[in-house]
Amino acid sequence: MSHEFSLTSIPDLNGRYDIYGAIHKGLRKAGCDLLGRLGAADFQNVEETVFLIGDLRHYLMLAASHVVHEDDNIHTALAEKGVSTVTLDEQHDDHRTAFRELEELVVAWEKAWPLSKAACGRKLYLAFAAYIADDFAHMHEEEVVTGPLLWRNFNDEEIFAIEMRIIGSLPPEKSMAFMRIMIPAINPAERAALLGAMKKNAPPEIFQAVIDFAVRPGLSDGDFARLADALKLAA
Ligand SMILES: [Fe+2]
Repeated sequence: MSHEFSLTSIPDLNGRYDIYGAIHKGLRKAGCDLLGRLGAADFQNVEETVFLIGDLRHYLMLAASHVVHEDDNIHTALAEKGVSTVTLDEQHDDHRTAFRELEELVVAWEKAWPLSKAACGRKLYLAFAAYIADDFAHMHEEEVVTGPLLWRNFNDEEIFAIEMRIIGSLPPEKSMAFMRIMIPAINPAERAALLGAMKKNAPPEIFQAVIDFAVRPGLSDGDFARLADALKLAA
């Protein structure tokens, strides 16, 4: 996989709608958290590690689904404008190969005899590190190259509509799962904007469920208080 970009040519948002920002922050933070846990795990202790493996599979499921959302909504929209997405499509295919290989390594750890579990865990750790390294470079390219291509070809309302198509296609539990990784990863102003829009547009019981299950558990008391203040939530 080749990534060609210069770190000094990272574009400014300039007030434009950022379709990649929040979800990519969420994937980066959740990926780094998992990598840290995989590095510190005692892979011979099955009882403990099984929770980590569950979280890893959950992350890979979300990552695989994110790739499909981009293929089906962003790449198709660019293709309709005659913009090639061949490089990104190839990178997404590489991701799909990585998802299969990581699942094989997880199964190898599950099936390994006790004495081989630590070695299987080390392989899984290294493979996951290589995968997120690739994904970080890929997401960087999307934000510095593809983002500006979207701005050139669509206005903000059209980009927002693409994002709404993605969100509208998600079953509620998956939406919640994406929110759980995004909310702790974005900054206070981004949280207030995202949840402020949801408070205005979503039915109150859905908004409350998001606060209870996807927002509150991932934030410190201080961050939650700041958000509650911004959103004027009842105490
Ligand atoms: Fe992507």
